Amino acid sequence: MKEIEIQDLCKSFEGREVLSHVSFTVEKGEVFGYLGPNGAGKTTTMRVLLGLLRPTSGKALVRGSDLAVDDAARGSVGVLMENDGLYDKLTAWQNLDYYGRLYGVRERSERTSQLLSAFGLADRRHEKVFNLSKGMRRKLGIARAIIHDPEILLLDEPTSGLDPEAQRMVRDVLKDLSRRERMTVLLSSHNLDEVERVCSKVAVIKQGRLRAFDTVENLRVGRGGHALTLVLTKEQDATMVAELLRHDPSVTGTSVDGARVIIDHDNESTSGILASVVRAGVGIEEALKASRSLEDVYMDLVREQGTGA
Ligand SMILES: Nc1ncnc2c1ncn2[C@@H]1O[C@H](COP(=O)(O)OP(=O)(O)OP(=O)(O)O)[C@@H](O)[C@H]1O
Ligand SMILES: [Mg+2]
Repeated sequence: MKEIEIQDLCKSFEGREVLSHVSFTVEKGEVFGYLGPNGAGKTTTMRVLLGLLRPTSGKALVRGSDLAVDDAARGSVGVLMENDGLYDKLTAWQNLDYYGRLYGVRERSERTSQLLSAFGLADRRHEKVFNLSKGMRRKLGIARAIIHDPEILLLDEPTSGLDPEAQRMVRDVLKDLSRRERMTVLLSSHNLDEVERVCSKVAVIKQGRLRAFDTVENLRVGRGGHALTLVLTKEQDATMVAELLRHDPSVTGTSVDGARVIIDHDNESTSGILASVVRAGVGIEEALKASRSLEDVYMDLVREQGTGA
């Protein structure tokens, strides 16, 4: 049984389709990234998964259960959505204590102390949430989401608005939870650098349609894989080089920027490409090879026209 299973999910609001036949699965212990432009349908998918919205058709299951009807399964899920569920007038401590009680957490006060320390909030424990900074509040929201030690964690943009240090702390906490406790995490994010660091697998959605569902590694390699940047001695050679390589089957794309030619290609063909450029009598001032980032791949995916798959 999959930890999370989205199967042919469709959702319309008043006849307007915002999710169209979306399918993907998340395995136990995975930190899974759910990506897509504003309005793509990420939050809607999560709401359906949580049983807060009914799907128009298709399924969204947590360990085989529909959370809209299965209360027992809800206890194994921790959630942090845009509304963090914290009470402004209660202190940090009181908030965690309240949720601990709600979930029947044993040794509640120990767990509360431990989480406040882990998130660097121990010295603010008696502060009302209203007085906490945005980042502190976000950290407390994550602590709240995991107070009952859930097996599955759903986070909607958990690090937006956090400073770099706090982002890193959240990343470390998530990695640690997945590695040590085999917690399954589904998170949405617009921070691709972060997703690349923390997620092993991703789904990319655009206008309610799934554009990719794969490991980060496969996406990078499968879509152009590696970029070779050549800075040519003479700028006027750049277009000629791009034209020459356009007919090479190992080259998946070229772009020209002044004396710079960027060549997306298979990993194995770098030396062949260099040789053909040299054979054409073109002077190379600099050559740099790097694998494509998740951001490069994402940009391709969301710019592509059509429905994709
Ligand atoms: N309750 C609702 N009624 C009508 N339309 C809705 C409702 N909830 C969401 N939508 C629409 O569904 C689409 C998807 O919204 P959603 O919030 O899922 O996007 P998202 O991917 O989370 O975007 P963002 O990155 O901006 O958070 C949007 O066009 C939004 O306006
Ligand atoms: Mg959203």
